Amino acid sequence: MKILVVGNGGREHAIAWKLQQSEGVERIICVPGNGGTATLNKCQNLPLRIDDFQAIAQAVIEQEISLVVVGPELPLSLGITDYLHKHTQVNVFGPTKLGSQIEASKSWCKALMQTAGIPTASGATFTNPRDAKSYISAQGAPIVVKADGLAAGKGVTVAMTIAEAQAAVDALFQEDSNRVVIEAYLEGEEVSILALTDGKTIRPLLPAQDHKRIGAGDTGSNTGGMGAYAPAPLVDTSLIQKIQQQVLEPTLRALQERQIDYRGVLYAGLMITPQQEIKVLEFNCRFGDPETQAILPLLETPLDELLLACATGKLEQLPPLQWRQEASICVVIASGGYPGNYEQQKAIVGIAEAEQLGVTVFHAGTKYEEGQLVTAGGRVLNVTATATNFEEAIKKVYQGVDCIDFANKYCRRDIGYRLFV
Ligand SMILES: Nc1ncnc2c1ncn2[C@@H]1O[C@H](COP(=O)(O)OP(=O)(O)O)[C@@H](O)[C@H]1O
Ligand SMILES: [Mg+2]
Repeated sequence: MKILVVGNGGREHAIAWKLQQSEGVERIICVPGNGGTATLNKCQNLPLRIDDFQAIAQAVIEQEISLVVVGPELPLSLGITDYLHKHTQVNVFGPTKLGSQIEASKSWCKALMQTAGIPTASGATFTNPRDAKSYISAQGAPIVVKADGLAAGKGVTVAMTIAEAQAAVDALFQEDSNRVVIEAYLEGEEVSILALTDGKTIRPLLPAQDHKRIGAGDTGSNTGGMGAYAPAPLVDTSLIQKIQQQVLEPTLRALQERQIDYRGVLYAGLMITPQQEIKVLEFNCRFGDPETQAILPLLETPLDELLLACATGKLEQLPPLQWRQEASICVVIASGGYPGNYEQQKAIVGIAEAEQLGVTVFHAGTKYEEGQLVTAGGRVLNVTATATNFEEAIKKVYQGVDCIDFANKYCRRDIGYRLFV
């Protein structure tokens, strides 16, 4: 089988890395890919824009691709799946434009959850700042203000005061938002459940947790994610069953009721409250980054078979997913300055030495320039280690991290600390 993977991050490198391990996979084309996918076995990069659907469809036809796996939310929300269905015969892993609204519109998602009785924070949607602000005054703080559309992790303000929440509303309406969701503040621990679905059957992957803040102890600016681990011990078998019954199954049914044939990842961002209640913070319509880099090294089931089964509506026919009984941890190495301004084009050394220690290094923001691997993004590399327990995995992952160097390298030294508090 020939597979085309859309995206250029650590998530897509991890997906391609797992796919090439399958005997049934002949060749992988990454659009546009990165320095990691450029040199991966069976894999080649194709420098197209991820929103140039016409060029991607042409590549699908010319290269006789049988499965397209879409990594990022942007092309999904713009309708890449609908476009490929219309113009080619290819199987697509990733929901349609309508299905992607579950991530791309927080108000649409909130309404779906409220109608279907899926547990989530109480809240309301507003289309003008005046009503939003009087709602905030009435509810009091802490309270959470969310931009409706895709915001690359910058659309949510967890406000500790009424003034802060109202300022967030003003800021959003001044930008191009014309809709905000305001919801009750929830306490608890966050966990990511990535589930695979073919629109009829839904199966969770191992539970994961990530670290979103730039600084030690989960402080400082929000980022795309500085590290992740799986399986999150917080989610035991009885909790995963509850998540399946209270969240995953009813969400899939709600999508079906809206005539949405959702094939891809349904990613539930959950808050587990101190009373062990499950609350959905948000849904994403794709694999998480960097959770995927921590989860996939533990997967034993061939990924190509799983993704194809989802894309062709045959997930129920597959045997239960097989996992290695190990702990997996992923540490993101970033460019100094990220998530603010940072420099690029810094020469990277030490990846081969790290891999000799048994870690896997996924590339996030790298490229080759005149044969030299250089930095090409804020998040540069994702070093991943698996071991019999988290203590060992953490020791191993940082040994790998310490082999790698480039000017202004930055990473958090405390990924996984919540496992031990
Ligand atoms: N109702 C809430 N109560 C407390 N914290 C929240 C709430 N909603 C979101 N958050 C915090 O804000 C972060 C981002 O919110 P989320 O809904 O996941 O949006 P996005 O990922 O699109 O930025 C969450 O990971 C969580 O830490
Ligand atoms: Mg989120």
